[in-house]
Amino acid sequence: MLNFQTTKFLLQNLIFIIMNLVENINRIKSLMFEQVEDYQIKTFDDINSRLGLRVCIKLPNGDHVGKTNIIDFENGLNLSPNLTSFINNKNNLFDQDNCVYQYGLEIEEPYRGQGWGEKLKNECHKIIKDMGYKYATNIVKCDNHASLGLMKKLGYNLHQSNGERDFLYLEI
Ligand SMILES: CC(C)(COP(=O)(O)OP(=O)(O)OC[C@H]1O[C@@H](n2cnc3c(N)ncnc32)[C@H](O)[C@@H]1OP(=O)(O)O)[C@@H](O)C(=O)NCCC(=O)NCCS
Repeated sequence: MLNFQTTKFLLQNLIFIIMNLVENINRIKSLMFEQVEDYQIKTFDDINSRLGLRVCIKLPNGDHVGKTNIIDFENGLNLSPNLTSFINNKNNLFDQDNCVYQYGLEIEEPYRGQGWGEKLKNECHKIIKDMGYKYATNIVKCDNHASLGLMKKLGYNLHQSNGERDFLYLEI
């Protein structure tokens, strides 16, 4: 028979061991579910500059995967005759304070069809949202099925089309 002191000692040890076990299980769980990004985002220049903010997506080892640009509305109008033409035709939503224009999206050929375009666009949306803008816009050629598929998947809406190009927007 164990006396009271021995039983107390054993119970205290048992509780200590169980608490340690729970702590270690939680640590392993958090390591298992911790999100490890398989890419890095690099930005250059400024959204309010003549060519806007260049956003690049790269592998962790620095290899270039793709790029795009985000530019404020006024600089976008100066840069893109297509944007100007759409806005002159109809504009019920967009202005310098609420909207940015995105252009020059390109994923390097070996990386296409693997979700990189989607990752890059999602990162751009975070940047645009953090800057306080409400709308992200894009112009895509009507026969560019890959790009139109990507925009559709991301939730972009058609604002207008001239038959050759679609003017799309996303409410962020
Ligand atoms: C358009 C482009 C950026 C797409 O990038 P990507 O990394 O290949 O696309 P993702 O792998 O992220 O695909 C995301 C979604 O886009 C759509 N998509 C991508 N490629 C597609 C294709 N060839 N046809 C139709 N839909 C396509 C799909 O909905 C896809 O989702 P899913 O895989 O669940 O079906 C890339 O093809 C590209 O750089 N093309 C050349 C340059 C260009 O056209 N730029 C756009 C100018 S507006």
